[in-house]
Amino acid sequence: MVAFTLPKNSRVGTGKTYRAPAGAKRVRRFRVYRWNPDDGANPVMDTFELDLDQCGPMVLDALIKIKDEVDASLTFRRSCREGVCGSCAMNVDGTNTLACVKHIDEIQGDVMVYPLPHLKVVKDLVGDMTAFFAQYASVQPWLQAESAAPQARERLQSPEDRAKLDGLWECILCACCSTSCPSYWWNGEKFLGPATLLQSYRWIVDSRDENTGERLDYLEDPHRLYRCHTIMNCTATCPKGLNPAKAISEIKKLIVERRS
Ligand code: SF4
Ligand code: SF4
Ligand code: FES
Repeated sequence: MVAFTLPKNSRVGTGKTYRAPAGAKRVRRFRVYRWNPDDGANPVMDTFELDLDQCGPMVLDALIKIKDEVDASLTFRRSCREGVCGSCAMNVDGTNTLACVKHIDEIQGDVMVYPLPHLKVVKDLVGDMTAFFAQYASVQPWLQAESAAPQARERLQSPEDRAKLDGLWECILCACCSTSCPSYWWNGEKFLGPATLLQSYRWIVDSRDENTGERLDYLEDPHRLYRCHTIMNCTATCPKGLNPAKAISEIKKLIVERRS
């Protein structure tokens, strides 16, 4: 008989519940994914009741409050607390986003918090980004130019050329887009994914870079680029409002143009 349920060792169980303090008036429940590689147990969802009158407004504020006051073992990444470093990316209320810019008040019902999907979990909300950053490094994300730089000043760019980088340089490599992309879920070892492709395009359109041909050669591959089927999840989820799907289609256009 065909089994349509998950195998026992991959089921997420019910964890502990931590009640709100007595007298709390504005109580919200946060249900948080927990997995510890050291205890050999299945993952569980712990429930934390917090008094929002005693908590900052963002989901990251709630996680920090839980870690500081309820369970110090809760593990997650964060640094800037203002949507700049990209480290607090996780899946909140069914969407990949940055916990530090996600308002608790925008969420209806229990606040569900999981790690980014389809990454190997290191612990709790921390996903393994090793492969993601190796792919980023593979597109050589730095200026490459053979011609000598001007003496005693930077390489100049016209305002029009500089404007071509808008919508690209703002990427903070949070991986929300790549981990929301079905093609990346199933072909993540070969398909570079939307974040890395957007970053590659950022150098392809930089007027100061002289390695455009080699960059396109690297991407012109059935897997690295063409596994994108324009599903658009990446653009829908980017917490910085960027459009990786458009960057990918621009790369495809450039490859077609240079053939003609
Ligand atoms: S494109 Fe957006 S979602 Fe993707 S890594 Fe960059 S900032 Fe994050
Ligand atoms: S547009 Fe391409 S990269 Fe973006 S989610 Fe869809 S398949 Fe993935
Ligand atoms: S903590 Fe830096 S982006 Fe959220």
